[in-house]
Amino acid sequence: MAGKGKTGRPSARSKGAAAKTESGRLRLRLRAVTHQAEDTRAFEFVDPDGRELPPFTAGAHIDVHLPGELTRQYSLCNDPVERHRYVVAVLREPAGRGGSRTLHDHIKVGDVLEITAPRNNFAIDKRAKRHLLLAGGIGVTPMLAMIHTLQAGGADFTLYYCTRNWDKTAFRDELGPLIETERAIVHHDDGRIERSLDLGKLLKQPAAGTHVYYCGPAGFMRAAKAAAEHWPKGTVHFEYFSVDAAPAQGAPQAADTAKKPGADFQIKIASTGQVLDVPLNRTIVEVLAAAGISVETSCEAGLCGTCRTRYLAGEPEHRDYILDEDEQREYVLICCARAKSHLLVLDL
Ligand code: FES
Repeated sequence: MAGKGKTGRPSARSKGAAAKTESGRLRLRLRAVTHQAEDTRAFEFVDPDGRELPPFTAGAHIDVHLPGELTRQYSLCNDPVERHRYVVAVLREPAGRGGSRTLHDHIKVGDVLEITAPRNNFAIDKRAKRHLLLAGGIGVTPMLAMIHTLQAGGADFTLYYCTRNWDKTAFRDELGPLIETERAIVHHDDGRIERSLDLGKLLKQPAAGTHVYYCGPAGFMRAAKAAAEHWPKGTVHFEYFSVDAAPAQGAPQAADTAKKPGADFQIKIASTGQVLDVPLNRTIVEVLAAAGISVETSCEAGLCGTCRTRYLAGEPEHRDYILDEDEQREYVLICCARAKSHLLVLDL
């Protein structure tokens, strides 16, 4: 796996493709910023020389590397057939961790930012006969890319889009034709919980062949998770866009001394046989880095999948938000996982 480099120097480029830094990131120019709703802007990134960008599929996100060592993941919302641009939409959150404020307040058209090529943990399931898209606020962004793809393929879908009011409803123009034909249903709650869309009622009866996708802020994610709990395995897809929105995973306690979930353990590097201790206060990624083994990371919170690593033996204690049960049998997200067994053998 590639290391998380700090250099911004461009490396050799192949004809027609966007240039990458030595660390594999793209250097893209902010071409346009457009107002989409109160506190929400869309940011369009292009290659400075007009070259093609790496392709992406609906539901994918990019990592935007901002000044001050900030890295933020944003879902792409433009049509995945486009190769000349990446578009993300960002809600300015005054009480957030700083990424949205930096983008809104300090990044200007013409600035060049490093961006990690798209990855997708929230893909459309092609087995579905019908797609039910549930968006809370800015969680609509991956749904927009999905809608482009679903429409192009003639798929059956409905978007339920929950916002506070029309002023807070991003992409209302783009969604206009779908709203008119009721393929997109916008629900306003005026910021009052008692006026929230009744997701329990909407998802009460799973329909054969229907898959549900949801993305939104913390309360919305909790409600959607609870409402979809009884849906058949493999039919529910979701993406958390911040740790704040994700369910609590339970941090290890320093007082834990006996071997139990979250306590210290060892990892073994399968290719070399090297065994390393993972103490309570270090992540597997940190232990690997200290031993000179760099693993690419991004969110470092179990949300993006960048650090996904195969394991060959032992029992992980998964603490991520994206692996399903089948994936958990093969992979572990080593930025956040612990181990239930004393030894976890990693395919590194
Ligand atoms: S770095 Fe994002 S899941 Fe591990």
